[in-house]
Amino acid sequence: MNMNWIIRNARVVNEGRTVEADVLLRAGRIERVATEGIGDAHGATEVDANGLLLLPGAIDDQVHFREPGLTHKDDIAHASAAAVAGGITSFMEMPNTSPAAVTQERLQQKYDRAAQVSVANWSFHMGVSNGNMDEVLRTDPRSVCGLKAFLGSSTGDLLVDDERTLERLFREAHMILSVHAEHEGTIRANLEAAKARYGEDIPVTEHPNIRSAEGCYRSSSWAVAKAKECGTRLHVLHISTARELALFEPGPLEGKRITAEACVHHLWFTDADYATKGTLIKWNPAVKTQADRDAIRAAVNEGRIDVVATDHAPHTLEEKALPYTRCPSGGPLVQHALPAMLELVRQGVYTVEQVVEKMCHAPARLFQVQERGFVREGCHADLVLVDPDAPWTVAKDNILYKCGWSPFEGQRFYARVKRTWVNGRLAYADGRVDTSVRGMRLLFDR
Ligand code: DOR
Repeated sequence: MNMNWIIRNARVVNEGRTVEADVLLRAGRIERVATEGIGDAHGATEVDANGLLLLPGAIDDQVHFREPGLTHKDDIAHASAAAVAGGITSFMEMPNTSPAAVTQERLQQKYDRAAQVSVANWSFHMGVSNGNMDEVLRTDPRSVCGLKAFLGSSTGDLLVDDERTLERLFREAHMILSVHAEHEGTIRANLEAAKARYGEDIPVTEHPNIRSAEGCYRSSSWAVAKAKECGTRLHVLHISTARELALFEPGPLEGKRITAEACVHHLWFTDADYATKGTLIKWNPAVKTQADRDAIRAAVNEGRIDVVATDHAPHTLEEKALPYTRCPSGGPLVQHALPAMLELVRQGVYTVEQVVEKMCHAPARLFQVQERGFVREGCHADLVLVDPDAPWTVAKDNILYKCGWSPFEGQRFYARVKRTWVNGRLAYADGRVDTSVRGMRLLFDR
């Protein structure tokens, strides 16, 4: 397979700047980035970028690819292909599969499966449960992205609520600990009150009242305080409320022991969208008010939010059509996250350099990913060629998700991913994924 490419006349977006350059890929690495141009291609395949944007492949630190056990919703082969079509070249997957990844053996099975089928580069979080701390502490920080704990329950049965386990986890975690922070007691009480009022068929507009801002704050503020007390390296996932933002420091990532992530859906949708999208935008934590969304957007600029990810979490349309209490939360996003963020660039919310910072550089730095996330000589050649002005509309016939739907259906995006390279191999070009490409296991400088 061809691994030598020369991409000429690209506008390379990297480390806060956009420069015109030629980029030479050889043996899976970025060999040269030359603003003065590169003469002879020495047999490499030529691509004329014609002034299109060349970005580092995005690194998504929160996805649910459903394998093993939930493969009617998604699987690693389909989801990784959709990811590269959307410009995401590396993913970090979550442990709430079936069975959950709460032993070293089960975790290893996921790594083995990814090596067989994943088009993108992979890593899998080790799951924390109420009874597996000894297993958790055996996780290798150099080859596993991190630990994941559900402080509030979501899809699956992973919930850490045992006080002694939490104490031990926050004190002894030997690597980055990512948490889903929603207060279980608050959610349960709100749900019981809603059931008393509506029965099982609760309107989805009640979702942000059940999975309330109070529930988020109670849990995330507890986690941040506990991490400060114990010195834990804490990463709080999918911040969904304005109030929580004060828990995090603005400014650059360097030196922070407590970091925060926002997801594309919380930067895009508001509670006004439940009227048209219904349960397709039912997520945990819930999409909340416009004031919340706008505050999270601003916090990305301020640096209180360090990374932007997807929380790609597909369910089938049949499942999404169930009454509220049985309708699962989550939706597919990896194919549309980068186009959506670049749409926010077009709308003036962000600059393209900021999007690259939050989706490519920052996840690489935050997780200490080895040699990825930048258009730098010597790095793995994970690259995305984007046409910022090639309008298209998300529709059933261009959706690559196994579940066959998107919360963005009908949305017109201007930015279009034209090509994606993974480790110097062309994995996606003009609407087609090369499913014979295999990514690599992510490694970490720890
Ligand atoms: O909405 C969600 N769905 N949030 C999560 O944290 C889990 C996810 C899932 O796995 O379905």
